[in-house]
Amino acid sequence: MQPFMEWSDNLNTGIDVIDLQHRKIVDYINELHRASQTIDRDLVGQVLNGLIEYTASHFAFEEEMLIDNHYGEIDEHKRLHQNFIERIKRHLANHEKGANVARALTGELQIWLIAHISKEDQRYVPSVTAPPVGSAVSKMIKRFFG
Ligand SMILES: [Fe+2]
Ligand SMILES: [Fe+2]
Repeated sequence: MQPFMEWSDNLNTGIDVIDLQHRKIVDYINELHRASQTIDRDLVGQVLNGLIEYTASHFAFEEEMLIDNHYGEIDEHKRLHQNFIERIKRHLANHEKGANVARALTGELQIWLIAHISKEDQRYVPSVTAPPVGSAVSKMIKRFFG
């Protein structure tokens, strides 16, 4: 099956570890799309929980990196991350109450992610000079499994 969302090179920040994490979020959105095509509500819940957990850990990693690099707009960036997590959590709560949220949510996630990466994340790129923690590891992973 054709994936719902494909990675596009103009989303690359050039910071390998960040690009790998962003691609993984795209994978989760595709997984949610696949789950939404089924009638398996437990699967949708599992994927949504995984997506929230992974996205929150990406945000925490990114914010650490921005603090290390003394990024001036960190508070605003953190607020955008926070709002996003709260939004997906509301969808999860609605899913748990029995609503069908997955189909509409995949589109919403796609739009948010593309807008956030191409505007807000790209904006910090010139300020990031210190290599983020784990970048050597992520390069290795990419070389062997990429
Ligand atoms: Fe971000
Ligand atoms: Fe990001």
